[in-house]
Amino acid sequence: MSIAENIIHWYKNNGRDLPWRHTKDPYLIWLSEIILQQTRVDQGMPYYYRFVDAYPTVNDFAQADEEGILRLWQGLGYYSRARNMHKAAKLVMTDFGGIFPRSYTQLLKLPGVGEYTAAAISSFASNEKQAVVDGNVFRVLSRYFGIDTAINTSAGKKQFAQLASALICENEPGMYNHAIMDFGALICKPKAPLCEQCVLRLGCVAYNQDLISILPVKLKG
Ligand code: ADE
Repeated sequence: MSIAENIIHWYKNNGRDLPWRHTKDPYLIWLSEIILQQTRVDQGMPYYYRFVDAYPTVNDFAQADEEGILRLWQGLGYYSRARNMHKAAKLVMTDFGGIFPRSYTQLLKLPGVGEYTAAAISSFASNEKQAVVDGNVFRVLSRYFGIDTAINTSAGKKQFAQLASALICENEPGMYNHAIMDFGALICKPKAPLCEQCVLRLGCVAYNQDLISILPVKLKG
């Protein structure tokens, strides 16, 4: 089994059942991804439900008054996220004919949507083959392959992005992205990872060479 197949197999038995994983609607997935940009899953979940309830469609979101949006956002911090969301929803109505974009390149045109979020939404909503590269992915890949390039340098970002793209599963890229997020969050954790339960440990350089506490490398700055 390839790494991707291994992680997907693990995910099918152990992944988290999260509400935004039950939809292919790019608008709802976008809501969840923006909320989760700087927020933990357990903290973001009630906000996701409240937003879906208050604004079930992108049209509802675009027409909402900003104060209402900011009120619902209270407690999440980084209020620019909420303001960018409002701008993005209005842009979808004016420039995208009210149809929320679902391809990587189109999604990048929305304020507040960067490479990570565009990869997440396009893979989940359209099964586009775009690998997400976040802290979970840095950790899993640096440990498994024993890569000590610092993750917060441009060389590191490039190297990990290339590796992530090379590994992504052909048939189920969306599921692979969900799977590696959960694998990083539940097994390959930053501190005290659960190596004894890990389906990748036999091939994991960090596990076999006792480098878990050293990888991934991040430069102080
Ligand atoms: N963090 C960012 N996006 C996520 C998602 N779709 N599921 C779980 N955690 C996430």
